Amino acid sequence: MFKKRKQELKIPNHIAIILDGNGRWAKKRGMPRTYGHQKGVENIRKIAIAASDYGIKALSVYAFSTENWKRPKSEVDYLMKLPGEFEKKFKDDFKKYDIKVMFSGRKTHLSQENLDILERITKNTKDREGLILNICFDYGSKSEIIQAVKEIAQEVKSQKLSIDDITSEEIDKRLYTKDLPELDLLIRPSGEIRLSNFLLWQAAYAELYFCKTYWPAFSKKSLEKALVEYTKRNRRFGGIKS
Ligand code: IPE
Ligand code: IPE
Ligand code: MG
Repeated sequence: MFKKRKQELKIPNHIAIILDGNGRWAKKRGMPRTYGHQKGVENIRKIAIAASDYGIKALSVYAFSTENWKRPKSEVDYLMKLPGEFEKKFKDDFKKYDIKVMFSGRKTHLSQENLDILERITKNTKDREGLILNICFDYGSKSEIIQAVKEIAQEVKSQKLSIDDITSEEIDKRLYTKDLPELDLLIRPSGEIRLSNFLLWQAAYAELYFCKTYWPAFSKKSLEKALVEYTKRNRRFGGIKS
C-alpha cells in the first residue's frame, strides 16, 4: 500500500519543517514543556527515517532559533542538552539508514561542548549518501543573510568582487544551505501561520504547508498528508500554467 501511494506522489527534493508546538503538546498532557522538547527530539528520528523512505534528498529542521535564547534560562539550559541526547540516541539508526547530518546556525553562542558534539556528528556522517538531515540550531535567517552580505561587502572592499558581480548565486553560495537542493516544501505544524525567521531567502518559491498537529504528534501520516497536498500544487515560478 505504501509503495502504491508513494508512486502517486510527487516527491520534493528538499523539505523543511519548523519543529513547533512542543510546549503546548506537553501542557495538554499536564507535563512540563521540557517533556515536549524531549518527545520533539525523538520525533526528528521518526520523521527523518520516513523522509528517507520517501526518497526525499534533504530535510531541514528548525530546532532552535536565534530568538529562542529569550526563553527562561531553565528551558534554554534543557534545550542545550538536546544535541548530546541526539548523538547518543540516534547514532545507530542513522547509520542504518545512511543519513548524513549537518548543522546550520551561528557558532558564536553555543558552548564548546555543544560545538564539539555538532562537529563530531558532522564528521562521522559526512560520507553518507542517503538523506541529508540539516539541523538548524541557533539558526536565524536574518543572521544568515547578514553574514553573507558582510562577506560580500568585504570582498567588494578588497576588490575580489565587483558590485555588478553580486547576483542571487553569489548570495546562495554563502548560505548554510549552499550544498542542498532548492527548497521545495516548507511545513509548519502547531497551527501558527508564520515563518519565524526560518529560511526566508530559500523559501522564495517553496510551497508552504501549515497544519494544526503539534510537532511531537506529527507522524509519518502527517508527512504523507503534506506530500499529497504538495502533489496537487501547481508550481509556476512566475511563469504560466503548463
Ligand atoms: C518548538 O516548540 C521548540 C522550540 C522552539 C525550541 P515550542 O517550545 O515553541 O512549543 P510551543 O510553540 O510553545 O507549544
Ligand atoms: C520557531 O518556533 C522556532 C523553532 C521551532 C525552533 P517559535 O515557537 O520560537 O516561534 P514563535 O515565537 O511562535 O514565532
Ligand atoms: Mg513555539
